[in-house]
Amino acid sequence: MCYAIPGKVKAFEGKFALVDYFGEEKKAINELTGLNVGDYVYAQGGFVITRVSQKEAETTLETWKDLFFELKDIDDASVKQMPWAGSKYTKVRDMYDKVAAGGRILREELEYLLSAKDAGEREFIKNAAHHLRHQYHGNSCCVHGIIEIGNECDQVCHYCGISALNTSLIRYRMSKDEILESVKVAVEVYGFKALVLQSGEDCGRSIDELIDIVAEIKKRFGVLIFISFGEVGSEGLKRLYDAGARGLLLRFETSNSELYSKLHPGSKFEDRLKDLKTANELGYLIITGSLIGLPGQTYADISRDIELAGELNVEMLSMGPFLPHPNTPLAKHLAPTVDEIVHALSSARFYLLPHVKILVTTGLETLNMSARRLAFLSGANSMMLNVTPLEKRPLYEIYPGRAHQNVF
Ligand code: 5AD
Repeated sequence: MCYAIPGKVKAFEGKFALVDYFGEEKKAINELTGLNVGDYVYAQGGFVITRVSQKEAETTLETWKDLFFELKDIDDASVKQMPWAGSKYTKVRDMYDKVAAGGRILREELEYLLSAKDAGEREFIKNAAHHLRHQYHGNSCCVHGIIEIGNECDQVCHYCGISALNTSLIRYRMSKDEILESVKVAVEVYGFKALVLQSGEDCGRSIDELIDIVAEIKKRFGVLIFISFGEVGSEGLKRLYDAGARGLLLRFETSNSELYSKLHPGSKFEDRLKDLKTANELGYLIITGSLIGLPGQTYADISRDIELAGELNVEMLSMGPFLPHPNTPLAKHLAPTVDEIVHALSSARFYLLPHVKILVTTGLETLNMSARRLAFLSGANSMMLNVTPLEKRPLYEIYPGRAHQNVF
């Protein structure tokens, strides 16, 4: 887990720089040339992304030096207040003890957690997941900005409001200059250090154009770039990595290949997996996951989703609710509840390796605006804030009534 404040390079270990944050040391891959011990840097997602002048670093750190520890204290207090000893939920408690001691739970145990029905036990699972998040991540929360650079899409995914099937949507494709302007605002006004560029799977924008945009952002801004343009294939992934992208956001949507085929006519689950595996091999940070509440989906499917995310070496799990869009074939299918989603995130916190980040999705916040807080108190520890130009946001209508249409 990284901090969005400057850190001081203490030493180098092979390709890694050891970076100090008020006495806490973190490792980050260094790709900058001429970096020295004593320099100040920003690191994100395990990469050193830019150097900062000593003056700028010291000014920022001066503001943070008390707050950094105060925030930790607030988080510590939230953990101590949990009712813990003497709990009757021994099965969950055993699982907690195992994970807290560095062990793993089995897939069957994950399925047990997911399918728990008793309200008290579900509450206990959420609290235990909160403890695990605290143990392994402290109070750090990963915050990415997301810019939706276009809503053109050639795919026909049955749940998605921007699919080519929706002929009543006004389409847009931001120009390179518009994108660079949005990145400038995100980085220089709002201070984002990690940005996701997202669009539909758009044949109208070539890989060469995407590469040009990524390379220009990399050249002009010290920011970690995630791409999310659907499937771009092995060659596309390789070229985008060379241009400077270091993260990929691509959900596999469901690990049930039969369900996948039904929901994605003309697309193959294996192709999706191949992109994810290739990206992992190339060194991308992987954000992936699934939709919860799809028609016919079972707890076994969701537990396999979480297991698959782990197999794909997921850096951040993005698992959120299916939300019905009126202009799609799934218009009449009901959305899941907030509790079902938060419960799945808590269960995932037990199963996935300690370092994995768990995202509070905009979809969850769309179900209920207070769900972000609940999810953060139940094992989640990441969020994405929308930095798409305000006038474009309503057009990126993957589902209706998306949270954060007018503000962050
Ligand atoms: N409900 C929730 N999420 C959706 N997405 C697309 N349509 C919907 C919907 N109706 C998500 C998909 C995709 C991401 C960009 O948006 O999971 O990966």
